[in-house]
Amino acid sequence: MSPKWFYDALGSKLFDAICDLPEYYPTRTEMKLFADHAPEMARRAGTGRVLIELGSGNGEKVRRLMAHLRPRAYVGVDISKEVLHSATAKLKDEYPQLSVYAVCSDFSSGFRAPAELPAAARLYFYPGSSIGNFTPEQAVALLKPLARPGDALLIGVDLIKDRQTLESAYDDALGVTAAFNLNLLARMNRELRADFDLSRFRHVARFDEGLSRIEMHLESTTEQSVCLDERKFSFAAGERLHTESSYKYSVEGFAALAARAGWTLAQRWTDERRRFAELLFEA
Ligand SMILES: C[S@@+](CC[C@H](N)C(=O)[O-])C[C@H]1O[C@@H](n2cnc3c(N)ncnc32)[C@H](O)[C@@H]1O
Repeated sequence: MSPKWFYDALGSKLFDAICDLPEYYPTRTEMKLFADHAPEMARRAGTGRVLIELGSGNGEKVRRLMAHLRPRAYVGVDISKEVLHSATAKLKDEYPQLSVYAVCSDFSSGFRAPAELPAAARLYFYPGSSIGNFTPEQAVALLKPLARPGDALLIGVDLIKDRQTLESAYDDALGVTAAFNLNLLARMNRELRADFDLSRFRHVARFDEGLSRIEMHLESTTEQSVCLDERKFSFAAGERLHTESSYKYSVEGFAALAARAGWTLAQRWTDERRRFAELLFEA
């Protein structure tokens, strides 16, 4: 299943809670990169651009860059309506002179910018290592149509690291990530009139080294059947729904992927432990 379905209103709140967990290093690490390097990032990326943020979520990250980037206009794109509207409203309050747009859409099936955007060069901002939710082929297909000469891309990429750090980031002791994963079943119950019994599924997160990706699954703990939209689905004990992949890259590996989509690496920023990278590309 595509991870995009995690993000209903509750799913977005659960994701925000994940970002505060001690095990979930990506958000803290990326925030620290902005705290340390925002002026340089803005200098290299260029000011006065149209700033388009993909999967903008609660908008906390772009708020670290805004004063440095001084964009001509800002467009937040997210599939999760409530979080998108509250984040863009907050930005508008803080920067009343800025043109702020909220585009609630699924950018994996093509992204359409508001027609009235200024004709300035664009800076795409795609933080959170969410690009890792796509297979490398899908990631190339997503990034390729954005690569127009003069445009730039500032993207967060989670780096390959030891299994234990990765697996505990996706399977925390408090069980918040488990709740985030199980909310998918609750959402199907709410929106598709399914009858999943959440107590009969368990959260599983494993790093597949060969594929360089974390996989999240929901595993049926018993033999059972579930009704969804008047169809019946049977699960054997141990059978799993694969709900998310999160690919991990080296900087060089991701730069090679981006090159296939028409993007050239211009600058990299990584933390001391080389856990996470913020990469600037030029089309
Ligand atoms: C992992 S969260 C990252 C949020 C924020 N950018 C950050 O770095 O903390 C992914 C965000 O992308 C949004 N999203 C996921 N798939 C999407 C899609 N296909 N189209 C639009 N938004 C999507 C989710 O609603 C969520 O807000």
